[in-house]
Amino acid sequence: MIRAIKGTRDILPPDSATWNEVESTARSVFRTFNCQEIRTPIFEETALFARGVGAETDIVSKEMYSFDDRDGTSLTLRPENTASVIRAYIEHRMDQIPGVKKLFYIGPMFRRERPQKGRYRQFSQIGAEMIGSSFAGIDAEVIEMVSTLLTSCGVQGARLLINSVGDPESRAKYTNALKEALAPHIPALSEDSQRRAATNPLRVLDSKAEQDQPVVEKLPSIHEFLNEACREHFAAVRTYLDDRGIAYEVSPRLVRGLDYYTHTTFEFLHGALGAQNAICGGGRYNGLAESLGSKVPAPGIGFSIGEDRLVMAVEEARGGPAAPSLVLYVAPMSEAAFRRGSLLAQKARAAGVSVEVGAPAKLKRLMELANKSEARYALLIGDDELARGEFALKDMRSGEQVTVPEAELVGRLY
Ligand code: HAM
Repeated sequence: MIRAIKGTRDILPPDSATWNEVESTARSVFRTFNCQEIRTPIFEETALFARGVGAETDIVSKEMYSFDDRDGTSLTLRPENTASVIRAYIEHRMDQIPGVKKLFYIGPMFRRERPQKGRYRQFSQIGAEMIGSSFAGIDAEVIEMVSTLLTSCGVQGARLLINSVGDPESRAKYTNALKEALAPHIPALSEDSQRRAATNPLRVLDSKAEQDQPVVEKLPSIHEFLNEACREHFAAVRTYLDDRGIAYEVSPRLVRGLDYYTHTTFEFLHGALGAQNAICGGGRYNGLAESLGSKVPAPGIGFSIGEDRLVMAVEEARGGPAAPSLVLYVAPMSEAAFRRGSLLAQKARAAGVSVEVGAPAKLKRLMELANKSEARYALLIGDDELARGEFALKDMRSGEQVTVPEAELVGRLY
């Protein structure tokens, strides 16, 4: 038997209802921030991610699904969407539209990670990018948008961690200091960290390997190396978050696993998620457009929420998936009743009511099916009811049954 590929999964009802609900909440929150939708292709040239996300990151060096097209071009299923959004921004000259461009996306991403609860090889992100400004007020607005979205979905108590990874000048100094601090400990580090200590020491900071932790804990903090401009930017972000009443913790080791970040980085963690507790990650990327070959600068900041994890947190908060929403189960006891019931269903559906029409059967069987469908009401149609043009409407919660004339039926269903 053919099964779904490892690390991928089917989203079935009733969970799919929670997914839809979360997406529609996201869309309405984004609208209130004047943030509009962008849809980019699922696959791109491999070079986009290698240059944008960084060749030394886990994502690019180990986790991409890449393949050669027939003309030899290397293509990759997108592991994230920020690089694609910036590519589209440059390609369509969106920099020529005045003001900050605010773009959101919802869709699948692909990373060849070791699957576990909350970590998949195909997962979905709800994300947004605000491009065209390096003003710290936008950083606060982006973080406020995530915070609003989480609360609107019913997820309380997520912890916000923020940090600054500085600008290239500050980071060059920090990188040198890290190399020096790491040098005496190289033999004690994991294989990946040994390599990265030389190529990209910042990545050692977000190493998950147990054996690296004693060394990582003693490394200097980036805050000792931030120049004046970086310190000012970070202080302004904090002020604007304070203005908004958004609580945060400064976490100096939060460098994030992608190379494009400058200045602000942030994550939202949620307790209900277990080991994979990052529900959202984001940050500023002032040089990303230039590293993708753009002559035009496009400083920006954005985030991506792991939708799989958000759905888990929402279902955990409310104790299960969204309740099924069937309103009426039509239970016909003969073929003539079925035909009449189908016309009644047509009218009710035209008024926006969800209806399931059973096939003709005995009353007992129909009531079993009505129960299983979790419908709010059942409409019982037998030959007597047909003759009178009145129907028995049963409230499936209270068990109460009333006789309703055909013309009044739809009005009774709320
Ligand atoms: P990221 O931290 O790689 O950032 O991913 C963001 C979120 O996606 C994570 O916090 C997590 O919730 C979810 N996620 C990542 N990998 C998986 C997985 N294998 N299974 C399930 N969920 C996962 C980015 O992708 C950046 N593009 C964020 C960003 C936008 N930065 C600026 N703009």
